[in-house]
Amino acid sequence: MSDTRFSTRIIDAEYSKPDPHGALSLPVYRGAAFEFANSEAIAAAFRGETGQHTYSRISNPSVANFEQKVRAASGAESVVALSSGMAAIADTFFAIASAGDNIVASPHLFGNTFSFFKSTLAPFGVEVRFVDAADLGQIDAAVDGRTCAFFAELITNPHLEVPDLPAISKVVRAKNVPLIVDTTIVPWCAFDARKAGVDVEIVSTTKYVSGGATSTGGVIVDHGTHDWSGNRRLAPMPEPAKGISRLTARLRSEIVRNLGTVMTPDTAAMQSLGLETLQVRYERMSASAASLARTFDSHPRVAGVGYPGLDTSPYKAISDALFAGDPGAMFTITLGSKAECYRFMDALRVFRRATNLFDNRSLVIHPSSTIYCTFTPEMKREAGIEDNLVRLSVGLEDVEDLRADIEAALEAL
Ligand SMILES: Cc1ncc(COP(=O)(O)O)c(C=O)c1O
Repeated sequence: MSDTRFSTRIIDAEYSKPDPHGALSLPVYRGAAFEFANSEAIAAAFRGETGQHTYSRISNPSVANFEQKVRAASGAESVVALSSGMAAIADTFFAIASAGDNIVASPHLFGNTFSFFKSTLAPFGVEVRFVDAADLGQIDAAVDGRTCAFFAELITNPHLEVPDLPAISKVVRAKNVPLIVDTTIVPWCAFDARKAGVDVEIVSTTKYVSGGATSTGGVIVDHGTHDWSGNRRLAPMPEPAKGISRLTARLRSEIVRNLGTVMTPDTAAMQSLGLETLQVRYERMSASAASLARTFDSHPRVAGVGYPGLDTSPYKAISDALFAGDPGAMFTITLGSKAECYRFMDALRVFRRATNLFDNRSLVIHPSSTIYCTFTPEMKREAGIEDNLVRLSVGLEDVEDLRADIEAALEAL
């Protein structure tokens, strides 16, 4: 089906039939365990020789079906589905990092990712080296023989910076270091990670994929482009089967089952459905976000609007080069102070005050006092978190109602 286009490819990426009842969508396999006719059959399944499912913490038909659909969406070699975006980030680094290794990254990261690198991984002897992702010389100087990955976010949240991934990829690949990117903010229908030089994508499927905040989930999308034989943790493994990298093999044979970070079958079923409507939702939401960002960029009560699609954005050129169409459904508004942000948020009637992105409903949040509330002022400075900024996620409501809502809330200031 590779000659068909995005939405067709996802809808056609069906489970292996026949179903005894001819069900059009895969029924949800909720059970924990699977039965075998005899001892040799269960032993062969445990040895991974038959591809059969044994226990749902290890693999499950509903989850495998979702992974197959994500493969169709992303064009990746292999996909591992997990319980959340953070589980996908944590499992990736538990699979590739050893004590003494470092990760090179921009400090402009989603709050829990920043905290995972600085607080959770550090006691295991893994260092994070923060660099300015716009400075290729700094990246080159920071990467050394113990760098297990360069990590970036596709559009940083909430700063809305777009790193030049093809250029970064050239620098790090020259040193045999993989480029791992959190691509949550622009989905596969509008961004081709492999073409941009990304080796592994990490996605919080809680966002666009879940189909309206139905569930939390995450995926590790392995494009099979990095040779992991130089990685200390993965090098000693036996050569994996053809068509699966050492990273994915390690995740499946050890990390996910030991940490228990697996996606549930119900979530997989909901998110498989979400994937089928991803492109239409994304195109509508991002067109509305672009329209609103343009309207309010020049509003007299607004100090600034952050959106990479704006002509005034320093990231417009790279955004146009990387993304098809408008660059996503998130934008930010900078006001005069934290108090003004609160007054603006409390005056909104259509936007809901909630911490998520890309729900069917439009959402608003003050990142500094919520997602980053445990950060010290120094950590906020390092992570680039400002007190006078609100983040908006644009949903599926009529764009004119959203425009009127923001306009009225600004007037109320
Ligand atoms: C860019 C980005 N990455 C990762 C995450 C974490 O995803 P999850 O909440 O599914 O663990 C988020 C959550 O907001 C996010 O915005």
